[in-house]
Amino acid sequence: MKRLTPPDPHGIQAAVQALREGRLVVFPTETVYGLGARSEDAAAVRAIFAAKGRPADNPVIVHVADVAMARALSSDWPDAATKLAARFWPGPLTLVVRRNLKVPDVVAGGLPTVALRVPDHPVAQALLNACGFGVAAPSANKSGRPSPTRCADARDDLGDAVAVYLDGGPTRVGVESTVVDLTGKRPTLLRPGGVSQESIEAVIGPLAAAPKAARPLAPGMQYRHYAPATPVEILASADLKAAYADAAAQDKAWLVSSDLGVTGPNVHVVGGRDDPEAWARQIFALLRDLDKEHHAAIVVEAIPEKGLGAAVMNRLRKAAEGGDVP
Ligand code: TXA
Ligand code: MG
Repeated sequence: MKRLTPPDPHGIQAAVQALREGRLVVFPTETVYGLGARSEDAAAVRAIFAAKGRPADNPVIVHVADVAMARALSSDWPDAATKLAARFWPGPLTLVVRRNLKVPDVVAGGLPTVALRVPDHPVAQALLNACGFGVAAPSANKSGRPSPTRCADARDDLGDAVAVYLDGGPTRVGVESTVVDLTGKRPTLLRPGGVSQESIEAVIGPLAAAPKAARPLAPGMQYRHYAPATPVEILASADLKAAYADAAAQDKAWLVSSDLGVTGPNVHVVGGRDDPEAWARQIFALLRDLDKEHHAAIVVEAIPEKGLGAAVMNRLRKAAEGGDVP
């Protein structure tokens, strides 16, 4: 099995070298682990799509060290981008702007735009500073699987397709970045994530909701996602309590809030209903770990969609949707 590399200067140097040579590197960010390639290297970025089994029309985020590097890849940098970057970068916010010719078509999935972010993680920052180029990186999972919040989860999915696995321990936020499109008339929320909609709106005013177009603006949001093989069910608190009381149902796994007051076999208390950060941090790892226990289903208590709760519920709904993984 491929070994996990400590993110010391030696490990960072090995990762930079691999990226320069057009190979793939798994690295930690504050949200989830990314599967990186040098963004100007179209062949290397194509290798990301092959390793993940990702549809070619689903563009990837380019990670950069700072605002200057982000601007160097864009053809337009609106005022809203200046304001949001000043407030939230480094951090779990991705900005979609018009791209320039330094961004290959394959990165953008054929769109005239590019998604950019400055991650808030010391290992990611060390890597990006040492590279001096942008690193295109989707989450380091097989397409359709829960995103990896631990380095070994990425290795479980991607194995030998990756040259270097930089292990930075469990990630701090646990759900992916919020994606905001700044190329239209109004800033639009394409994906809820690690920065809450409320805090973005406090800086630039109301966000439009992503239109349900024939071709969604964030193409990735149309696919089944974040899903373990075990069926996922979401229940309101009272309904979950009633369902658990039915002894026949107890071969399922149960993810509940500490407020519900249910304990017992196969019950995992994730955190308070009003502590969505705790849910965000643990949800993908729990889905992966419980999947290996082969339960009849994983039943999850719905939490309020405030703050990070919106991102948590968005990912849970996608995991519960079922259907084919493309
Ligand atoms: O936190 C994160 O965002 C993680 C870490 C590794 O940075 N990355 C991540 O990447 O979640 P990925 O590829 O799994 O999700 C990127 C999302 C997808 O829904 C994709 O369709 C959308 O961003 N996206 C990427 N480029 C876009 C673009 N030019 N226009 C619209 N949406 C875009
Ligand atoms: Mg992903």
